[in-house]
Amino acid sequence: MPVPFCSDMHPVSINRPLRWFVVACVLFLLTVNARADEPILIRFSHVTSEATPKGHGAALFKKTVEERLAGKVRVEIYPRALKYNDDQALLALLFGDIELAAPSFAKFRSFSRQIQVFDLPFLFSDVDAVKRFQRSEAGVELLDSMLSHGIKGLAYWDNGMRVMSANRPLRKPQDFKRLRFRIEPSAVMQAQYRALGAATVPMPFKQVREALKMGLVTGQENAWSNIRSKGFHDFHRYFTEAGHSFLGYMLVTNADFWAKLPDQVRTELENIIQEVTAEVNKNARDKAKADRQRVIDSKKADVITLTDAELEEWRTLLTPIWKKFESQIGTEILEQATLANQAR
Ligand code: SIN
Repeated sequence: MPVPFCSDMHPVSINRPLRWFVVACVLFLLTVNARADEPILIRFSHVTSEATPKGHGAALFKKTVEERLAGKVRVEIYPRALKYNDDQALLALLFGDIELAAPSFAKFRSFSRQIQVFDLPFLFSDVDAVKRFQRSEAGVELLDSMLSHGIKGLAYWDNGMRVMSANRPLRKPQDFKRLRFRIEPSAVMQAQYRALGAATVPMPFKQVREALKMGLVTGQENAWSNIRSKGFHDFHRYFTEAGHSFLGYMLVTNADFWAKLPDQVRTELENIIQEVTAEVNKNARDKAKADRQRVIDSKKADVITLTDAELEEWRTLLTPIWKKFESQIGTEILEQATLANQAR
């Protein structure tokens, strides 16, 4: 039997399946329209507390985006590994469950062996050298080194030089004997602690405090802001500043998501990221100093600086590691990294 469709206006007869098809099409178009009007959602997952350079950067990014792209883009932040740890975050980024992450360099190993350059012990003389390298041709190209995996690097965010801690002063390689160091999932860090004579336990950042508390690991290395915000000095007395490596991040997104953003939105996001990055990296330097002082003021920690002779011993032991990773990282990148130690 024919079914009237809008019978009061157009006495058209269409069969039932066709009528449902038309209704479904109208509903679909309405949904698509409604979605087009909704702000684009950017979910930013990271593992540190809000009181770190990265936490501060994520909050500033959200605030700036929601002021300058109001109604067009909305940002949700998931700090302290509330949503994902770093390894999971990169997969979640690829699966479209989040749109931004800023893992430390060590976490990118499965996607780019070249990025290991940042963790080589004593390769960079200080933070300025790291920054000069990041601005060099090789440093800029590294942002695109994971494009074939669908990951796009947007910026370099800083934390600070790594500091090693234990419940005994770490001055000489023999001081590392029988210690179990928590490391990031990094072949470079593993080689570093092997050379120093310690065992290594790769572990997500989120679990480190508990592992220190339980004595599952008896050594760790991190930047001052992470040490302070997680209270690692509640469990370790001695903190050695050898200046051996720098904890930094790459702010990354899903390459496909980024390419499909409306041009005007993408350009504004790029401007915002540039401004926020400058602020994050300035804040990182200030925070490293302030958090170091706070740890000292807690009276729970002693900071150890090495003598020139001790440092020389560490360097002699650790710099041969560069050669081991040269074929993975690439000679050209290593050369540019070394050159960055010369102030220009
Ligand atoms: C971070 O600062 O994002 C964590 C670094 C770590 O895993 O130790």
